[in-house]
Amino acid sequence: MKHLLSIQELDAATICQLLDSAIELKATRGHHATPLTGQTWAMLFTKSSTRTRVSFEVGIRELGGFPMFLSKNDIQLGRGEPIRDTARVLGRMVHGAIIRTFDQQDVVEFSQLSGIPTINALTDEEHPCQILADLLTVREKLGTWEGKKMAFIGDGFSNMTISWMWAAKHLGFELHVGCPAAYAPPAEFLEKLQAPNVYLTTDPASAVRGAHVINTDVWLSMGQEDQKEKEHAFGPYQVNADLLQHAAAEHIVLHCLPAYRGKEISEQTLEAHAETIFQQAENRLHAQKAILVAVAGWKN
Ligand code: CP
Ligand code: NVA
Repeated sequence: MKHLLSIQELDAATICQLLDSAIELKATRGHHATPLTGQTWAMLFTKSSTRTRVSFEVGIRELGGFPMFLSKNDIQLGRGEPIRDTARVLGRMVHGAIIRTFDQQDVVEFSQLSGIPTINALTDEEHPCQILADLLTVREKLGTWEGKKMAFIGDGFSNMTISWMWAAKHLGFELHVGCPAAYAPPAEFLEKLQAPNVYLTTDPASAVRGAHVINTDVWLSMGQEDQKEKEHAFGPYQVNADLLQHAAAEHIVLHCLPAYRGKEISEQTLEAHAETIFQQAENRLHAQKAILVAVAGWKN
């Protein structure tokens, strides 16, 4: 594997190999191999981050490498230097790059021009590192996703929902997306997805009915903070005790965090499921170490 740009482009076997590797790295933390020894990895971030930044910095160090955090505002990218020039400079100096930005195409272009392993640390389109940590958490908590019903409540076309829809397509589990009609995935996306096991509904209770995994995420993703009219559409889509009455008797709640209590999730529900949700956050570290190990070591 040369890059991790999206979940869309992965297949079931690769996803399962990455999760197996994450489980191994988690079990052997502190005494596993250090394949990034002598390497410097650039972390190019144009959006805020707590979990992704910290887990990559720690993960790179634990694998023997050196992380170099480059906020957009501290480098010439923030003054208009194009991504294609940034890619060609960094590709001559560092051994890999981790990019958090808006446009998926920027990450793709960077991977093509830099000649170094490139990892998508969130774009408007996908959050592949997060979905791998989510799947790892499902595996740890429920043993398997086979035969489980998953629900995603909230924005039907955010980076997280899109990542979950591609994961459902590859892995074959049933995914029910409960979202307002105005924020449902558009027809052209569904045509590309071609996943009969992904169901859409505007009724959150029907999405959650019998679900083993209930997922949510912020209503306004980074860059959408001013879209107050969007937020108003989500009132009935809060994950709370009332909604969870429809879930399977044994269920888990996932949230990629950061969470806005009282909006997409109630305070009580977040705290009741905190053990799972913070295990999910920790799993970012282990999943990303698996990604780093998988892509490290080649360079044009
Ligand atoms: N879930 C996630 O990506 O968190 P951060 O934005 O804090 O990195
Ligand atoms: N959909 C959210 C995910 C944050 C980790 C966002 O893009 O802001």
